[in-house]
Amino acid sequence: MVVKTNLKLLKKQAKKSIIGSKNLQELNEVLKEYFGKEGKLTLILRSLDKMSKARRIKIGKEANGFRIFFDEAFSKKKSSLAIAFLGRSPATGEAESKEKWIDITVPGKRPELGHLHPLTKTLRQVEDIFESMGFAVVLGPDVETEWYNFDALNFPKNHPARDQWDTFWLKTPDKLVLRTHTSPVQVRYMEKNNPPLRIIVPGDAFRHEATDVSHDFQMIQIEGLMVDKEISAANFRAIIGEFFKRFFSTQGGSASGGKKEIKIRLRPDFFPFTEPSFDVSITCLVCGGKGCPICKNNGWVEMGGAGMVHPNVFKNCGLNPRDWQGFAFGFGLDRLTMMKYKIDEIRLLRSGDLRFLNQF
Ligand code: DAH
Repeated sequence: MVVKTNLKLLKKQAKKSIIGSKNLQELNEVLKEYFGKEGKLTLILRSLDKMSKARRIKIGKEANGFRIFFDEAFSKKKSSLAIAFLGRSPATGEAESKEKWIDITVPGKRPELGHLHPLTKTLRQVEDIFESMGFAVVLGPDVETEWYNFDALNFPKNHPARDQWDTFWLKTPDKLVLRTHTSPVQVRYMEKNNPPLRIIVPGDAFRHEATDVSHDFQMIQIEGLMVDKEISAANFRAIIGEFFKRFFSTQGGSASGGKKEIKIRLRPDFFPFTEPSFDVSITCLVCGGKGCPICKNNGWVEMGGAGMVHPNVFKNCGLNPRDWQGFAFGFGLDRLTMMKYKIDEIRLLRSGDLRFLNQF
């Protein structure tokens, strides 16, 4: 095969084709035409060793010059085509310079989609379930006065019951606290609203205490309150029975499916704002009741406290305890979430650790 070695002519033609390329595809065709497997320059280079020494030196030199010329013209054109395609730099509004050239043929990165935190998911489920049973969702302040957090809830002054709640006191003259529970919102609500009423109050509560796998110094509580003419502990048992059944059978949790019966245990307890008071536990869903660090090896996990609203609390809200009866409860959303998703360490929930969060 006769190989044309008129490199001057080839250079002219290549220049014309490069400049005339209307897009990257056409430009790449030019590259192929000269440097592809059967490219014009490839053939010349391949035939070099069949030439006489003198000719080989001459043509070799010219071919090298061609390559340098081609590279430069090619990359210049490639940049300008890319700029034309990309338009202007979003940062400066100017056309992107050659140095900042972006290879638009590289496949894009899939943008990562965010998702809801497990506590947010379970909070929404809890709200949905109670709303469907006629409860309104009510909020209250995180920073409370001593009156609402303790006094109005029938905590006697200087009574050891106050120590049961390890309180964060603020350094303010008027003795403000980070609320230790969501119960003060019961009082705030009953001051302004007459029964009959049904509310739940989700919100943060803070305890100045050492943390472990099932205790943190901050948690979300779900306070509940139902007041009417005739309300008994049986109403409470029925409402939470329905709540637990629905909560653990909705989608998303490893305890889902609704096949497993959730056992509820009420035991006598003491709270100043209820009489009688109960401790509410359910079978540990992390270990299935066999025993683990979360249930302290006894198969039951405490979900919170409850009881019948104390007459003094009604009085402190301006309601006559002879007219009204009610139950109240305070559950830990963190614990509910742990049971639902079988999480065996409460502190993971606020760790911000993506290896943990990405599992939800
Ligand atoms: N506030 C209590 C706590 O944080 C929980 C609680 C107990 C709330 C009994 C109530 C209740 O409404 O009736 O430990």
